[in-house]
Order: sequence, then structure tokens, then C-alpha cells
Amino acid sequence: MKKNLHHPAESSDEISVSESLAWAKKFQFGDASLWSLEIELLLGEVIGVSRESLYAWPNRVVKSAQWALFADCVKRLNAGEPLEYVIGFCEFWSLKFKVNSSVLIPRPDTELLVGAALALPVPTHEQIEVLDLGTGSGVVGLSLAYEKPSWQISAVDNSPAALEVAADNARALGLNNVRLLEGDWYKNLPLPIESNDGYRIILANPPYLTKEDAHLSGSSLSWEPIRALVSENNGFADLYRIIRIAKKLLNLEGWLLLEHGYNQRVGVENFLLESGFVDVKCLRDVAGNARVSVARHTKFI
Ligand SMILES: C[S@@+](CC[C@H](N)C(=O)[O-])C[C@H]1O[C@@H](n2cnc3c(N)ncnc32)[C@H](O)[C@@H]1O
Repeated sequence: MKKNLHHPAESSDEISVSESLAWAKKFQFGDASLWSLEIELLLGEVIGVSRESLYAWPNRVVKSAQWALFADCVKRLNAGEPLEYVIGFCEFWSLKFKVNSSVLIPRPDTELLVGAALALPVPTHEQIEVLDLGTGSGVVGLSLAYEKPSWQISAVDNSPAALEVAADNARALGLNNVRLLEGDWYKNLPLPIESNDGYRIILANPPYLTKEDAHLSGSSLSWEPIRALVSENNGFADLYRIIRIAKKLLNLEGWLLLEHGYNQRVGVENFLLESGFVDVKCLRDVAGNARVSVARHTKFI
């Protein structure tokens, strides 16, 4: 249930941390412990202190400008907007990434894709070419660029607004081994910078939900860009498109890595095998769901 928000200390300029939290906690609907966590993270962010120090110094004064910002943010959370959009950033691969409503909020599951790319049997200190398709905020490609300064990362999205966010993130992380490209998957994609041998790794977390997916309504997904989430053909259209063209762009020892839905493993695996990929394997998330398929390109097929 949503409630009206009023300043708890209308007559006074001064309100403490504990009063602010007590005020905001009254607006909780749904999961009380999640709401408390979000409110605490939010207040800590607004006044620039850690969540722990809110409790260590409960009498700290929240200045009026901070209060106004906090109250506005509580209002947005109360309307159901995800915390990451309200505070404007999230953590992924232990790095801080800017996010806004133009990009998908990165999910912890997607770290599986990054970990899988880093575990591939490819040279770690050589300049290899990597292509991140559907980069969004850039989390996948930029995390790899951060971990492997010698790798050259090309990151593609068809959303100019998403690419602006990715560019801000690349700047904030001080990365100079990333190029951001606007395009429809592989269309207009230039060849790798250093050679025309193709990419050594192509990886993607493409849209893979169906329009009818129950998760799309009544959850934080309804705040996220639909173009980042939904694909035709039972959610397989973009996955299949990427697999079909990947063979033409991959290096002869190249690898393709795809995040997909927990129930899409068989469809993705069959299409990879039909398309001539080998060594196809699937990685599971912490809950045991099949979420990332890895496959090797080969010249013999
Ligand atoms: C599921 S999101 C993944 C975002 C980010 N890589 C992540 O893991 O958080 C899919 C991304 O693909 C992009 N996208 C959708 N269709 C595309 C297309 N035809 N060409 C290029 N990018 C596309 C969306 O804009 C979105 O940023």
C-alpha cells in the first residue's frame, strides 16, 4: 500500500538519521526487511556515509537539502522504482556502474558470463579481440576490459542512450581498451582492430524473455527497457540470430558465450550444434539453473 509522504519535522530544519529512518520505514509495503535495507542504503548514499555508520551515529543531522533528496527518493521507491535507478548506480563484478532507465539493471547471474570468459583457454596477456553484444550499461565488456588490460573490447548496442551510460562507465573506470559501437547486433560492425582474423571471444546477454513472461508485470522489470528484455520466437530470436552470424566473425579458435533463460538450455545447445559449434557446455548459477552456454568455433565443420 502506498502512503502520502510528509516531512516528519515540518517546523524544524533539523532531523536526525534515526528520525529519518523511522519516518521512511513507515512507508514500507511488501517485504519489511528489504524495505529497511533499501532505505538504509539510500540514506547512507544521500548523506555520504556507510550503512553501518547510520547506526553508529544515529543522532547525526540530516541537512535540509539532503532531507529533500532523501524524501524524493523514498517517494520513488515507494512507487516501486528499483533502488538502483533511484540511487543511479549498482555494483557488478565488485565495480561500480552508473545505471538509469535506459539500461537493464545488471543481475548478479550475469557475473557467470564474465567468469566464464575469464576462464577460457585464451592468452591472458596478449592483445585478443573480444566482442560484447548488447552491452547496455557495459557491465560485461567493461568488467573484462578492467580485468584484462591487454584485451581489446568492442561493445555494441542499438540503443544510443544505453551507449551513453556505457561511455560514462568506461570513463569512470579509466578504461582505454574499449570501443563502443552503435548497431543492430553485427550490422555495420567493423572488423577487429588489430587483425582481420575475427574475434577470439564473442559474448552476449541478449533479450531472451517472451512477451508473455510473468516476470514482466508487477515487478521491477516493468521499470526496465523492454528492448533489453523481450525477444520474438519464444525468446529465442536474438539468441539464434547471434549464433547464426557468430561463426562468420569468430577467429578459428574463437569462443561464443551466451546468457539465456533457465529453460532455454536445450534450444540453445541444439542450435549451437546445428550451426557447427563444438565443445558445447552449459554453466549453472548458484541456484543450479542452466544460464550460460559456451561453445567453440572450429574450422573442421
Ligand atoms: C539483457 S540486456 C543486457 C545488458 C547488459 N549486457 C547486461 O548484461 O546487463 C540486452 C541489451 O541488448 C540490447 N539490444 C537489444 N536488441 C539489440 C540489437 N538488435 N542490436 C544491438 N543491441 C540490442 C539492449 O538495448 C540491451 O542493452
